[in-house]
Amino acid sequence: MRGIILSGGSGSRLKPLTKITSKQLLPIYDRPMIYYPLNTLIKAGIKEILIIIAPERAGDYLNLLGGGKEFGVKFTYEIQDKPEGLAQAFIIAENFIGQESVAMILGDNIFEDDFSEEIKSFKSGAKIFAKKVSDPERFGVIKLDENLKPKFIIEKPKDKISDLAVTGLYVFDNRVVEIAKNIKPSDRGELEITDVNNWYLQKGELEVAMVNGEWLDAGTFESLLKAQNIAKEKLVGKMII
Ligand code: TTP
Repeated sequence: MRGIILSGGSGSRLKPLTKITSKQLLPIYDRPMIYYPLNTLIKAGIKEILIIIAPERAGDYLNLLGGGKEFGVKFTYEIQDKPEGLAQAFIIAENFIGQESVAMILGDNIFEDDFSEEIKSFKSGAKIFAKKVSDPERFGVIKLDENLKPKFIIEKPKDKISDLAVTGLYVFDNRVVEIAKNIKPSDRGELEITDVNNWYLQKGELEVAMVNGEWLDAGTFESLLKAQNIAKEKLVGKMII
């Protein structure tokens, strides 16, 4: 299993904090934000991790994280020239993924759960992780059928279809590279991960696991502040990096 941390983007909702640095390098209590998703992958036993970053911030990431020895893993870096969507990561990562499966986590997503078993037991298809939230319109939202199987996923729905959000951790088999190459940009000009998830869903190969502990997408001032407090109260003691 290969790992990807998607840590580009523009962080426009956090301006001016993100005017001179990357969102994922901002502090969450006593560590840079990216340490939390990194911790999630390393805890799951992933040793080869690709970090995808925006060109103007590349030097900062190298200075902070280096080659990975300090963390007992190997880091590779790739540049995403423009934030053209989460699914673009799989095209950028084609060589890195090679013939392996891949777990991707977003650089601003902070999880309390330990996903080692979920990731280690993955064989094929796709596995995503869902959480009930009060503001589903900010995320990809899953509608389940009466047997709790996923029926469809809609990206940032205007109408309330369910309160089950797709979180920023995804596990895919090797087909994801070709799938990402074949999807078309959405109206907002992005290659949507929701389209990748729906491809697997339509084939009956999308598994949805639940997130039990805290989950935060630290992309707004409110969630950034909340993440700081949760990190201090609940997460710091569980970190291995
Ligand atoms: P978002 O929070 O959707 O986007 P953003 O970080 O650019 O912030 P804003 O909307 O405030 O401008 O992105 C979620 C995560 O994915 C975040 O860690 C950045 C990353 N990302 C990329 O690396 N490349 C991309 O093309 C996109 C859309 C996001």
